Amino acid sequence: MVGKITRAYEREVKEGDVKMASPKFGMSILFFFLCISFCSSTDQSFQQCFSSHLPPSNITYDVIFTQNSSQYSSILQSSIRNLRFSNASKPRYLVTPYNEDHIQATIICSKEHHMHVRVRSGGHDYEGLSYISDVPFIVIDLFHIRSVMVDIKNEYAWVGAGATLGELYYSISAKSNVHGFPAGSCPTVGVGGHISGGGFGTIFRKYGLAADNVIDAKMIDVNGNVLDRKSMGEDLFWAIRGGGGASFGVIFSWKLKLVRVPPTVTVFKTVKSLEQGATKLVQKWQNIAYKFHHDLFVHAVIQVTNPNSNQNPTVQVSFDCLFLGTTERLLSSIQRSFPELGVTQENCTEMSWIQSVLYFAGYSIAESADVLLNRTTQSTQSFKGKSDYVKEAIPKTGLEGLFKMVVEEETSVLILTPYGGRMKQIKSSATPFPYRSEYLYGIQYMISWDVAEETGKRIGWMRRLYKYMEPYVSTAPRAAYFNYRDLDLGRNSYPNTSYVESSEWGLKYFNHNFNRLVRVKTLADPHNFFWNEQSIPVLRFE
Ligand code: FDA
Repeated sequence: MVGKITRAYEREVKEGDVKMASPKFGMSILFFFLCISFCSSTDQSFQQCFSSHLPPSNITYDVIFTQNSSQYSSILQSSIRNLRFSNASKPRYLVTPYNEDHIQATIICSKEHHMHVRVRSGGHDYEGLSYISDVPFIVIDLFHIRSVMVDIKNEYAWVGAGATLGELYYSISAKSNVHGFPAGSCPTVGVGGHISGGGFGTIFRKYGLAADNVIDAKMIDVNGNVLDRKSMGEDLFWAIRGGGGASFGVIFSWKLKLVRVPPTVTVFKTVKSLEQGATKLVQKWQNIAYKFHHDLFVHAVIQVTNPNSNQNPTVQVSFDCLFLGTTERLLSSIQRSFPELGVTQENCTEMSWIQSVLYFAGYSIAESADVLLNRTTQSTQSFKGKSDYVKEAIPKTGLEGLFKMVVEEETSVLILTPYGGRMKQIKSSATPFPYRSEYLYGIQYMISWDVAEETGKRIGWMRRLYKYMEPYVSTAPRAAYFNYRDLDLGRNSYPNTSYVESSEWGLKYFNHNFNRLVRVKTLADPHNFFWNEQSIPVLRFE
């Protein structure tokens, strides 16, 4: 490698660039050369360390990619979902493990080489924390660790942390049309980040969060030990089901409890603009959606629409429903509880559960479920997201002010997700995710844009909207969803953070569960190796 770089340098000299350089430029070339030599020897020493920690039979090729590797860029870019971070600081190495040994060796060698580790499964982190860092770092990208083993007889599945939700859903449906798993709607989301941060989707009112349905897990800890539920203990097993895996280790795989779904489910979508009475419908929705039967999920998606280029943009609200049963049962329920929505037989479509997964992912239900295996769908936009939770219905004036702000930004989207059902029955301390019985619904705010120059304006709008919502949403703490990561809530100092400092954001995500997470972290990773901008802090007793 050093030889290769030296040859490139010699080529440059021959081509005359350096000969004509000023002394200052000559100095920087010298520095560049020294740096490259140093980096190359560090690269070699890291590789040597890595190989030395593997059993002789284990493969080591195609696992570590340096910034000079031809595949480095394509691997790094492959799951960057938020283009806001596509030009951010790059990892020193990309490690793409095939097995636990590779992860163990990476952790041990990263410690020896004083390098941070970021772990990436699906790359959907809203703030890019799985692939960017301000301090020298390595990314462990788990895309090879994605086997899914489904045992229908015993109703569980083992899934590699690098698998996507699409791969998981596809594998379940390949074996049974009456089993499913309650997780998110976007098929490219990785199970590593998603489940360790909670994970909700269209059937969570019936079955709870993805994290509520984990039976066991394999994780590699800060010392390179491979732990399962028994060996990690119930505290650590509790923490990684909603508290974020990245603070505690590298999740290798999950054992998930499959849930039973009926052979026929029903969907409908009803869209109303403000002029068609959307405000009144949202008012009513707030008071009833969380009380619906567990089988019924109706979320409200608020967006800007411009029905006719001659008219000013307005707001439309789409009420999207998944019902775990037939149209007949759905209609008898929705026509009684929410007649204003005007749902009829014609609005409803019956399908299998896996088709409903396609439907909510934006595919045609006629399409083969194979599309769920596509994990390379590239995002072409930058975005910023935030979240809130609502305990008391927002009054009409509050909604009107909200819609006024939404109409200012045509790429804004707000998703209102009803709670209640199973979520109300699970204790708020059962997993680190605390927002269960007292909450009517959660809000996700999202804005996207194409051009980097617009970043300030768009994020500025998002922050104004968040400020506007303050009187209408939960307080003390103002609740937020960890999987919709938001660094505006606060960030850790480097290399160590005080408990008080991290409580700023920690209480918002985890409320009363934050203290237990801190205790677990202090025991599991006392030297805070798994630090990031929003990792759980370590208690210091000095
Ligand atoms: P990524 O790989 O970026 O990881 C996210 C975080 O988890 C990082 O801190 C990372 O280090 C850590 N991590 C990842 N793998 C790990 C592992 N194996 N061990 C330890 N730590 C690990 N949420 C939801 O609940 N319901 C939904 O429907 C959706 N839909 C949705 C759509 C889209 C387009 C986006 C961008 C996001 C969502 N989300 C969501 C949010 C999503 O659940 C959240 O971003 C997850 O953390 C993404 O997990 P990934 O593995 O894809 O991300």
